[in-house]
Formats: sequence, C-alpha cells, structure tokens
Amino acid sequence: MDGYAAQQREFDWLCEPSVMTRALRELRIGCDAGLAVDVGCGTSSGMAAALREDLGARAVLCLDKEAAAIEFLRREGVNARVCDVANDPDAVVAPGSVDLVVDKSALDCILCSDGVGCYLRGVYTMLRPGGSYAIASFRTEDELRRIFGGAWRIIEVVALTPRCRLIVLAKDSGDDMLAPRVVTPDATPRDRFPLAVEEAYEVMFSAEERKWYSLIDFRGDLIGVFEMRAADPRFELSAHDAELFMRRMG
Ligand SMILES: C[S@@+](CC[C@H](N)C(=O)[O-])C[C@H]1O[C@@H](n2cnc3c(N)ncnc32)[C@H](O)[C@@H]1O
Repeated sequence: MDGYAAQQREFDWLCEPSVMTRALRELRIGCDAGLAVDVGCGTSSGMAAALREDLGARAVLCLDKEAAAIEFLRREGVNARVCDVANDPDAVVAPGSVDLVVDKSALDCILCSDGVGCYLRGVYTMLRPGGSYAIASFRTEDELRRIFGGAWRIIEVVALTPRCRLIVLAKDSGDDMLAPRVVTPDATPRDRFPLAVEEAYEVMFSAEERKWYSLIDFRGDLIGVFEMRAADPRFELSAHDAELFMRRMG
C-alpha cells in the first residue's frame, strides 16, 4: 500500500463513498451532522461531497496521517488536515465536537497494529456523546461484532456489497475501546491458502485495488515483510502469512 497516496489520484478502497453514505441515510444515521469527519480519508475525494449531498452534513473534515493524501484532497477543494488519529488528534479536532465519524477501510488497516487502541480512543474523543462512528470494512459481521469494547454500542451491521460490511457504533459511556481479548481477525479466506504469490494477490485484493496496487508492488512488499524467502519463485503464502501481511498494510 505504501505510496498509493503519492500517486495523487482519486482512489477508493472497498466501495464508492456514496454506497456508504446512502446506506447511512436509509438507516437514518448521521443525518444533518454539524460536523462529519472522514478518518483515514486517503485520496477518496468523493467522500466529502457524499457526506454533504447524501447526509446533509453542514461541515466536513477529512483526516489522514499521510501528507500526500491531504495535499491531493486540498487541491481538489476538500477541507482536509494531516492528522494521526492514533496520536493527539485533539490538536486538530476539538474533543466532543463531531457528530459523525466515517471510516472507510482505515480501521481495517489499523486493526491488527499495536496502535488500534489509541486510534479508537482518538475517534472516541472527537465524537460528541451519542455521536456515531460508521465503519466500512472487509471483515465479516461476526468478526466486527467481536472487536469493540464497552466504550461503544453497536447500532447496526449491514452488508454494503458482497465484500464490504457497514458497522455503526454509538459513543457509549464505557472505557474499553477494544473487546477484552483483542481480536485481530483474519479477513482472508483461510481455506484457500497456501497460494502462490500471483493467486494470493488475486484473492487478497479486489480488481479495483489491483489497478493501484500492482503485482510488482505486492512482490516487493512481500520481500519487505518476509525477506528473501519471498524472493524465491516457489514462495507460497500460508493463511498465516496472508494475515501477517495484511497487518502490515496500514
Ligand atoms: C486503505 S486506506 C483507505 C483510504 C480511504 N478511506 C478509502 O476508502 O479509499 C487507509 C488510510 O488510512 C490512513 N491511516 C492509517 N493509519 C492512520 C492514522 N493513525 N491516522 C490517520 N490516518 C491513518 C492511511 O494513511 C490510508 O490513507
């Protein structure tokens, strides 16, 4: 994934922004937000307009830790700021000021890293009490339901597309960001592995994602993660390897 933002092109992981915002409208969630924030916005420049047009958001702020993504969005006229949500987002977003946080596949990347608790704390802090956190994810409903601790109340889990679920959480009064046993679910179909690199690439990334993330990049990143054993032409990824690789993706 490294460097996808540097390509300075609009790109959407998982689904189009309007697929998410129209589902939220149907569920009557996040409508007429005074402030909606897109966390881990990447170069998804359509999300800001979708939040305004489909949900009537009065103000939208897009955040990403990658400066290249934010530069691109700003050139597209989007209100965007560089912000590591896991590390002092208060400097950018006033605590308790946000009605709706949308997260399209950013949590997917962060879930398996050590920073996930801080990231969820960052989202939690910016939300007003009762505010909504809407996540589009490639994880299954079962996996999603096991992730969140008592700080959150699950409002809805619905399918957006065959490979994308929407989970909506409300900010609750608990303190635990993550469920007691930190779950780092494996979103890849385990039973299809082991797979040769080219086959694994097809299974792990959608056709749209493969347009931006080439097989050559994947091979290079595999060597970054698994070192020279991934350079062997006979290298196969086990289900565990695929899971480990996805953990490094964010
Ligand atoms: C898979 S991309 C999704 C981008 C966009 N939301 C979309 O749907 O196309 C994940 C994004 O999350 C961003 N990200 C990862 N960790 C972050 C953090 N701690 N704070 C802010 N952004 C983060 C990455 O830089 C990347 O742009």
